This record gives sequence, C-alpha cells and structure tokens, in this order.
Amino acid sequence: MVTYLNQILRYTKLASSVTFIFLGVSLTLASCTSKKAITERLDVPYVATKPAVVEAMLQVAQVNKNDTIYDLGCGDGRIVITAAKEYGATGVGVDIDPNRIKEANKNAQKEGVSDKVQFIQQDLFEVDFSKATVVTLYLLPYVNLKLKPKLLAQLKPGTRIVSNEFDMGDWKPEKEVKVGGSTIYFWTIPEQSNP
Ligand SMILES: C[S@@+](CC[C@H](N)C(=O)[O-])C[C@H]1O[C@@H](n2cnc3c(N)ncnc32)[C@H](O)[C@@H]1O
Repeated sequence: MVTYLNQILRYTKLASSVTFIFLGVSLTLASCTSKKAITERLDVPYVATKPAVVEAMLQVAQVNKNDTIYDLGCGDGRIVITAAKEYGATGVGVDIDPNRIKEANKNAQKEGVSDKVQFIQQDLFEVDFSKATVVTLYLLPYVNLKLKPKLLAQLKPGTRIVSNEFDMGDWKPEKEVKVGGSTIYFWTIPEQSNP
C-alpha cells in the first residue's frame, strides 16, 4: 500500500514538474515573440542622446517656456524632460516601444515634470505633431528623409527642428553645430513649405 502511494506521489510530482517546465517555456517563447515583434517594428534602434548633446540641441533651438517640444522616437524621454525641467517648456515624446514609454514616464515622475510632459506610444509616422513649436529627432538618414514631407506639411511656419547626427539631404540646415563628437542640425519651417 505504502509503495503504491509512493508511486502515485512520484507520478504527481513528475506531472507537475512537466507542467511547470511547459509553462516556463511557453512564457519565455511568448515574451521573446513580443520583444521580436516590437524590434521588427522599429525604424531606428534605441540609442540615447548624450546629456551634453541634449543640452546643445535645446540651446541651438532656443527652447523656452512658451514652447511645445515633440521628440519623435523619444527613448527614455530625456530630451522633453530636460526641456521641461530646465527651460519650462511643455513636451510630448512619441515612441513605438512600450518599454521606452514606461521608462520615460518613470523618469518624468522622478524629475518632477509629469505635469509638463506626456509620452505617447505610437508610430512617429502616424502621430499628429502639428502643435509642436520645436521638433527633435535622433533617427537615421533615410528616416529623416521619409519624415521630411510630413514635417513640412504639418508644422507651422517658424517651427524649429533639431536633429542629432543626421541631416535632411538637400534641405540645407540653417545651423550645424559640433558637440562632443556629434553634429547637430537645425532648420526652421519656412513661410511657404513645399512638401
Ligand atoms: C536613436 S533612439 C533616440 C532616443 C531619444 N530621442 C534620444 O535622443 O535619446 C530612436 C528611438 O526611436 C524609437 N522608434 C523607432 N522607430 C519608431 C517609430 N516608427 N515610431 C516611433 N518611435 C520609433 C526607438 O524605440 C528609439 O527609442
């Protein structure tokens, strides 16, 4: 009788171990698949702008308390958070990766600017950024070029655009500034823009 019970116990343990292993493998696979799905949707991988370059971008654009700054592909939110904290601007960060949005919201809270900034999980090619007075970018050359007609169509004349590292092809920048190994490009939306 005891041997019989022991056998049942052993089978039960084995069955629950198999169930746990199966669940573990399924969860790991599900998490990998969703991470892969996000990575596949990224037009640009995540690389943060260095703090000195963030400062220089905001200074080149002369960001001030009357500005509404949009960072398209905002990462951990550092550009809009710095603009709000140091220059009193309001800001919107857009990123397609939900992990970046979580990080950005946490950082905004930590820096005490949650009332001045907002982070939206969305594709930067689909978002309405027409309320921006300043747009910041750290994307890639071909992504800048793909975005250019949308910038020219949506933004009001006088809106400033600052890009870390990459230019806009034949749209010549008004300013080009070198900081700590990076180049910052600056444009203003003209009175009559030609998308
Ligand atoms: C090079 S990082 C720049 C991060 C931040 N702007 C900075 O300068 O520190 C590019 C960011 O764009 C985001 N991204 C890539 N493709 C995107 C898309 N189609 N829509 C919105 N965000 C995107 C990535 O998740 C990443 O956080």
